[in-house]
Amino acid sequence: MRITGTGSELPKRVVTNDELMTFLDTSDEWITSRTGISKRRVLSDESLDKLAASAAAKALENAGIGANELDLMICSNVMGPYITPGLSCIVQGLIGAHCPCFDINAACAGFIYALDMAKAYLDSNKAANILIVSAEAVSHMTDWNDRATCVLFGDGAGAVVVSKGEGLRAVRLGTTSNTEVLYQKQITGNSPFELNQVKDPSLVMNGQEVYKFAVSVSAEDVKAVLEQSGIQAQDVKYFLLHQANHRILEAVRSRLHQGKEKFPVNLDRLGNTSSASIPILLDELNRQGKLSDGDILAMSAFGAGLVNGACVIQWNFK
Ligand code: ACO
Repeated sequence: MRITGTGSELPKRVVTNDELMTFLDTSDEWITSRTGISKRRVLSDESLDKLAASAAAKALENAGIGANELDLMICSNVMGPYITPGLSCIVQGLIGAHCPCFDINAACAGFIYALDMAKAYLDSNKAANILIVSAEAVSHMTDWNDRATCVLFGDGAGAVVVSKGEGLRAVRLGTTSNTEVLYQKQITGNSPFELNQVKDPSLVMNGQEVYKFAVSVSAEDVKAVLEQSGIQAQDVKYFLLHQANHRILEAVRSRLHQGKEKFPVNLDRLGNTSSASIPILLDELNRQGKLSDGDILAMSAFGAGLVNGACVIQWNFK
């Protein structure tokens, strides 16, 4: 499997830390020093499906193929505009594709899970061109009165087209069932028979537990996929880590003993965009001309589940 095109799209509305201070008991100093985030993009008059479709269209254009050449679309998404149908079904119509489509929810690790799934379809000759779109509207999930969570996130969409080829060198996925440290419950509707109704759910996080999990699993995963692919850390051009928090990025970086320049960041400008963070980062690097054929990229993500995933990709674009 190789990546043949990338795209991304962001909401136009920028919300700075200073703006958050107008309705939350917080400060720019607290947010930047603990998270590295100074602003984020949030949906206002746009819809997530249009954002996702725009990222998808850019990835298709970058890959030089039409939507009608797609054999499969996978959307990674925690909360789409509808409970059903899936986001991928809406995006299919917006971009004019005709392929089978489905959504996956592997939280912030969804992009890595989707890459692994796409590889299985390519390897079994069930598809030749696959579109992966990771699109997240975390601003619709958080409680905007809860300063401990809403300041951390942003909305956005990233997409890649993958086709047959040599590129994906190793993947590792993991899940450790834990619904205590990071979760958001679904509302239960108004069934008169349900004895445990959930009426007002919002995102709940134990930040310190998430931090411990993220740092240990990410460093371990990256080392494992490098070993699996026979590549040394010093030969990696960029480590693309899920953009959750700069302290997590720094802790993983120090465990890998690699320089800062190898860890691109969009967290400072975009906040944590869940599963969209890595494909957005990848698209930024691609469009800035920072990737050359043969470059080695290591990716690592972690999130609610708890789930984790990492991979090593050799950039073989054209
Ligand atoms: N502004 C000001 N004060 C705040 C804010 C805020 N936005 N949020 C919380 N506080 C306060 C708390 O109320 C608390 O006050 P108290 O001592 O009076 O009770 C104090 O700051 C410390 O709160 P903690 O939750 O202990 O803060 P901590 O130092 O752990 O930092 C953080 C929180 C940044 C979330 C940290 O735990 C962390 O880095 N966690 C990693 C997890 C993460 O980044 N998750 C992102 C999403 S999950 C994912 O993508 C997988």
